[in-house]
Amino acid sequence: MKRIFSGIQPSGEIHIGNYVGAIQNWVKLLDSCDSIFCIVDYHAITVEYDVSRMQRNIREAAIVNIASGLDPSKCTLFVQSKVPEHTELTWIFNCVSPLGELMRMTQFKEKAKQHLRNVNVGLLDYPVLQAADILLYKADGVPVGEDQVQHIEFSREVARKFNHRYGETFPEPQALLTKSPRIMGLDGKTKMSKSLNNYIGLLEDGDVIWEKLRTALTDENRKRRNDPGNPDICNLFTLHQAFSTPEEIERINRECRTAEIGCVACKKNLFNNMMAHLEPIQKRAKELTKDQTYVDSVLAQGAKRCQEIAGEVMREVREVIGLK
Ligand code: TYM
Repeated sequence: MKRIFSGIQPSGEIHIGNYVGAIQNWVKLLDSCDSIFCIVDYHAITVEYDVSRMQRNIREAAIVNIASGLDPSKCTLFVQSKVPEHTELTWIFNCVSPLGELMRMTQFKEKAKQHLRNVNVGLLDYPVLQAADILLYKADGVPVGEDQVQHIEFSREVARKFNHRYGETFPEPQALLTKSPRIMGLDGKTKMSKSLNNYIGLLEDGDVIWEKLRTALTDENRKRRNDPGNPDICNLFTLHQAFSTPEEIERINRECRTAEIGCVACKKNLFNNMMAHLEPIQKRAKELTKDQTYVDSVLAQGAKRCQEIAGEVMREVREVIGLK
């Protein structure tokens, strides 16, 4: 069975970009892969964060993932810092990672701009820690959104460099994308993300979601109700592709171009489909919130399994690099 590994940061609300770009794929792959999912708290501390909220965010990330369909009997879910080998392997990988390449990473450059007063080494080293996450479990596939593809390419390079220097040890992992790998924010201009506050949270109330959709940007050239629209450049059409049936997507594509349907009706349609999708997740999340013992036990079991795998791989790594 192929092994997949992926991660999510506990840095606040999980949004529909995370869900459509990554989590949906994780759920889809559960039956065919040995699946390991990680709440990456070490990654989350590379930017300023609220220390007092960290544990709550970690638990919420676990709850949202389980509620979204990550059945703990079919996968391993754990918190990164519970397996210290992630940081040990990061250090070893630091010694084969080209500095120039890290400095050219898109996410590093963006985050360095966003956090001008806190451009720390961890922010630069972020992709090396991510490579360690993946390779510590010798994962073959990494289901992620498009924004992470560069980091997965970097992980492949780290595996190649390590193998070249010390002998064949790690596989080169492949990025696995969904059919909607890049969900744009409600402004339609930038990627949906927690830090840009342009998102729809997976657990947000229907009326909050409707208000966000109602005011979201559509095809800017469509000024009046009777103007034909262009779904190819409408951000909400991308969301239809994630939440509506193929028949509805086809109909909206046609009716928008002929101005048979207006933006408000199109948004209402999307809202109903989105809520039909999100409501069962929200209901399950509410139940899980009341059962913290269960959530904690899932994470503890996950950590135990990962500690075993990581322990074995690190023994092999220490041996091949001459640090027995
Ligand atoms: P994070 O927490 O930013 O995002 C989690 C997952 O959601 C995807 N995603 C999106 N997909 C489509 N459209 C969007 N607007 C959107 N926003 C987020 C991300 O691509 C990601 O798959 N570096 C990772 C966490 C990580 C990791 C790993 C992932 C750490 N170690 C090892 C894979 C393997 C991140 O920032 O995720």
